[in-house]
Amino acid sequence: PKLDVRFDVAELVRRVPLFAELPAERVATIATLLRAQLALPGETIVRKGERGDAMFFIASGAVEVLVPVLAEPVKLGTGDFFGEMALLSRQRRNADVRALGYCQLLVLDEKDFRRLVQKDADLQSHIQAVAEARRQPTQSS
Ligand code: CMP
Repeated sequence: PKLDVRFDVAELVRRVPLFAELPAERVATIATLLRAQLALPGETIVRKGERGDAMFFIASGAVEVLVPVLAEPVKLGTGDFFGEMALLSRQRRNADVRALGYCQLLVLDEKDFRRLVQKDADLQSHIQAVAEARRQPTQSS
């Protein structure tokens, strides 16, 4: 069962570099699309092989990505995002993502993701570039 805790979403949104530079009204709009979720230490947030219906921004905390072809897990922290690859490629989750401690996450559902990137070309190309880099087996971030 997911533990649902209320956070000030707009405050959390500002911790994500991708959004931090945006004008306050854009942040407010994006905040309405994001849902705050607390992940517990050790919790598997995304499971390899599952269908992806959302992506996640880390407002605080850290996660590890268990990339099948890499010997070491990839660590992501505050301001990073994950779960974008399944949405972009329309393929299944390609790795497990596990919380390393308590993590404040911002969840963006697939339909809102599609709407958001359709309206914001910069946002789309940024997320795409990160996903592209992650697709290279030698690249770890
Ligand atoms: P997705 O495939 O939806 O679910 C697993 C996620 O792990 C994936 O999206 C990426 O966000 C993340 N991921 C996969 N490979 C890497 C990598 N090499 N480095 C960092 N994150 C990754």
